Amino acid sequence: MADSAITLRIKELGAQWEPYVIEQRRKFHAHPELGFEEVWTTEEIARELDAMGVPYERPLDTGVVATVKGTAPDAYRADGTPRRRIALRADIDALPVQEMTGAPYASEVEGKMHACGHDAHIAMMLGTVRVLQETRDALRGEVRVIFQPAEEISSGARALIEAGVLEGVDTIYGAHIWSDVKAGTVSAESGPRMANTDWFRVDIDGASAHGAMPHKGVDALVVGAEMIDALQVIVSRDVSPFEPAVLTIGEFHAGVAKNVMAGTAYLSGTVRTFNPELRVQLRERMERMVRMVAEAFGAEATFTWTPGNAALYNDPACAARAQKSIAAVLGPQALAHYEGTLSGEDFSEYLHEVPGVFAFVGARNPEAGADYPQHSCFYNIDESALVGGSMVAAQYAHDFLAGE
Ligand code: NI
Repeated sequence: MADSAITLRIKELGAQWEPYVIEQRRKFHAHPELGFEEVWTTEEIARELDAMGVPYERPLDTGVVATVKGTAPDAYRADGTPRRRIALRADIDALPVQEMTGAPYASEVEGKMHACGHDAHIAMMLGTVRVLQETRDALRGEVRVIFQPAEEISSGARALIEAGVLEGVDTIYGAHIWSDVKAGTVSAESGPRMANTDWFRVDIDGASAHGAMPHKGVDALVVGAEMIDALQVIVSRDVSPFEPAVLTIGEFHAGVAKNVMAGTAYLSGTVRTFNPELRVQLRERMERMVRMVAEAFGAEATFTWTPGNAALYNDPACAARAQKSIAAVLGPQALAHYEGTLSGEDFSEYLHEVPGVFAFVGARNPEAGADYPQHSCFYNIDESALVGGSMVAAQYAHDFLAGE
């Protein structure tokens, strides 16, 4: 099938702006900032938008919300509202990871790194904005571009939604650069893509005693060890093998000295599921397990559950449209099949409010050292994938706004 006029223009502009996108990615990569601390990042994004002549607002202290207004004859109604409005979202925060890649553009900040590729998200989205701005004569509506802070601490999306960022928005598109997907391909399948992400902590109260007189206390360390064993059994014995579920205890702390029996202990971890009922069941099962184990040992335990992001489900119609956009601008061979992941993403907050789609932009290329997992201190990407991500978002925005 021959390329449509708009796809041809997007491809031309993509080729033109690819060096810009890579340069931006390296710039942001060198200056990582953690959630809600993205002050420099925000200033830089604003500066780039100023250079493009794209208006923006800053509803929070960090992050930017830009607007690309279509100038197609029917882009706006007589009352000034757009015919259709789509939101595009890129997250902008980094992680408390010490970078070990040795790349020439590596993090210049001790202990902080763009180890999840959000630097790439900023760069790809700036590329998208450039393409949209230069093709706005064909845009039949309005594009709201959200540069979101604080995704890694599961807070930015909620804060922006409360600030009204989805008002008047018909649909939303987001993307993650992804090391489990081959560079040059993009996955945008419908259904569950990322997991319910919940957190828990167990505080155990025993009674400390001399290490040589264990019968005079209640050993919180032993109780904690039993709990760890017991909690493992929940996923292996209580959950259907056809249901994805993960229960990971990442921390266990107890004890103060070699000859003192621990009076207190705590452990904490995370639970990942897709199924909302299983999410509730696991919480109840864990709470009961913790209470009963503590009781059996004569200790007391407090179970604290902190709900995180809900699972991320792609809307079937939006996913189908996104796959068409990917095939149009990158070719049908660029459609990736990816099973999804039990990691979490606060993009799900937007999808609670409006239908949308979240794509995985492949950046995996072992020959370029780009095969470490997200959040690794060696994490890197195949930069040749970036401009494809820019073009897919631009094509998708055009395609949605052109729809009836
Ligand atoms: Ni991420």
